[in-house]
Amino acid sequence: MTDDARLAKATISDASQVVSAYARWAPVYDLVFEFVMRAGRQAAVAALGARPGRVLDVGIGTGLELPLFSPQQRVTGIDLAEPMLRRAQTKAARGPGNVDGLCVMDAARLAFPDASFDAVIAPYVLTVVPDPDAMLDEIDRVVKPGGDVVLVNHFGASQGPIAAIEAWLGKRAASLGWHPQFPFAVLGDWLAKTPDMVLTGRRTVGVLNLFTVVTLRKRGADPQG
Ligand SMILES: C[S@@+](CC[C@H](N)C(=O)[O-])C[C@H]1O[C@@H](n2cnc3c(N)ncnc32)[C@H](O)[C@@H]1O
Repeated sequence: MTDDARLAKATISDASQVVSAYARWAPVYDLVFEFVMRAGRQAAVAALGARPGRVLDVGIGTGLELPLFSPQQRVTGIDLAEPMLRRAQTKAARGPGNVDGLCVMDAARLAFPDASFDAVIAPYVLTVVPDPDAMLDEIDRVVKPGGDVVLVNHFGASQGPIAAIEAWLGKRAASLGWHPQFPFAVLGDWLAKTPDMVLTGRRTVGVLNLFTVVTLRKRGADPQG
């Protein structure tokens, strides 16, 4: 593991920091983050396509992805922060009835059997969880062979003015609720030790190309086949 990766993993040390940060964000989350991060959510759901099947949305937050799924996709959402999930419940009630469940659950300890989902989506979560490797291991476990995984994140800039701003924000990661300096190497290191998961795409989206959509596929049978 690189030094940067170690630093990024160390800054948000436990789930209680996440819960208190997002309990504070919940009332204003949609106002502050709906528009600025919309392109990443749209790109993430588009990357899944309209294929019917069971989709797990990890760290679903206030449910801003929910209206983007096709009615044929059966969605289960999990999040650590109950105040965020309550807002997702309101959005689910307004939708086409394709939400199977919204549960308070830790992404690092998913209460689902192996190979439960055709696809997993996790917009803006990897840089938030206290243990990104544990979350990725759990996603790998619950997605079916041949299933797709879509992650969206801002990965830290290596230099320039954005890197300087991230360094300043990085000192406040625990109260912000995410790691502004999170390096792609955390994901790269995990992929290197997880041969059943293959990187299938990586592209930037959104304002100033700040966000990266990463697509992965679990080796094995095509879930549709
Ligand atoms: C930046 S928000 C993203 C929410 C949503 N996906 C979106 O696109 O707006 C990150 C979410 O991840 C949740 N989260 C952080 N750590 C988690 C964990 N270990 N397990 C489950 N959810 C977690 C937070 O509570 C928060 O709702």
